Amino acid sequence: MKPLSVYVHIPFCEKRCGYCDFVSCTQTQKIDAYLKYLCAEIQAFDFSDYEVKTIYIGGGTPSLLTPQQLELLFQCLPQCTGEVTLEANPNSLTHDKCQAYQRLGVNRLSIGVQSFDSDTLRNLGRLHDVKQALDAICLAHEYFENVSIDLIKDIPHHAFVTPPAQVLKMIKHISIYSLTKDDHCVLDTDEPVNLPPEFERYEVSNYAKPGYQSRHNLVYWTGGEYIGFGAGAHSLLNNERFCNSNDILNYRREAVQKRTAEDIRAEQIMLGLRLHTGVALSLLTGKEQEIKFLTKLGLIRTTSTHVIATEAGLQVLNQLWLKLV
Ligand SMILES: C[S@@+](CC[C@H](N)C(=O)[O-])C[C@H]1O[C@@H](n2cnc3c(N)ncnc32)[C@H](O)[C@@H]1O
Ligand code: SF4
Repeated sequence: MKPLSVYVHIPFCEKRCGYCDFVSCTQTQKIDAYLKYLCAEIQAFDFSDYEVKTIYIGGGTPSLLTPQQLELLFQCLPQCTGEVTLEANPNSLTHDKCQAYQRLGVNRLSIGVQSFDSDTLRNLGRLHDVKQALDAICLAHEYFENVSIDLIKDIPHHAFVTPPAQVLKMIKHISIYSLTKDDHCVLDTDEPVNLPPEFERYEVSNYAKPGYQSRHNLVYWTGGEYIGFGAGAHSLLNNERFCNSNDILNYRREAVQKRTAEDIRAEQIMLGLRLHTGVALSLLTGKEQEIKFLTKLGLIRTTSTHVIATEAGLQVLNQLWLKLV
């Protein structure tokens, strides 16, 4: 049996946030029709050769689904032997839904908090305030041992606010993304993040308490195989990358993107630089001079097997990559 991860995209939101370009719409009356289409896609996939290690139900806003709708979806999903994550927005998480998630086998909740500052939340156009975010985290913690939150930093005119101590106690994982603009550029600022040391920065935007790294995301970052279902979902299977189109009720699998060995190596170097485990030296043959130069600048350090970006190096990942690729 080969290991496989499964991503399922739920492209519906109560309101679109101006900064977000994930595939989603507000036509929630289409959810039932979408689920029918999605389940047909999942059921057409042959899982018999695979052991499904992780499932990630992302969005959009999966917590918009009613327990009945989610149950329908889980009836088509394969058995999973490991981590099953569901993304939830603070204002649509309820006791009933948490109970349904537990019953259906979800064992990790990822809550889109975005900020612990009221003005920032208002200016981002979020539907929740800080109190609702705190309530949602408490509720999630009541039902789930493994709770993660998403935050955004580098927002112009809004300083990053570190999560309060009561939150840091309840959660196991934090993703902190730099706000990206329409053209996918990260803004120039790079606000420092001061989390207690128990949260290890194991990827440039991700921090976890020991044993709570996101198993699903690690599959993406280490070149593991995954299949994505739903509008706009991406896959990497049999060494081929492909994705579904964005058309919510009529999405199709798009042509396979051809990848040369050089493309794969370049991608592995970028992913490795983002991770605390680093890039295998075997990928960097012929780059000895560059490694020496970047080490002297304090941007990387080397072990006997890997090159690892330092804190300073993590601030200039693109430049590191250009030198090493
Ligand atoms: C696709 S969203 C789904 C989460 C959920 N719908 C929510 O909004 O809470 C996943 C995460 O991507 C991040 N995100 C979305 N747009 C972003 C942007 N322009 N820049 C940085 N992070 C972004 C947010 O932190 C968000 O929680
Ligand atoms: S950030 Fe979340 S709620 Fe806002 S549009 Fe994107 S997916 Fe929807």
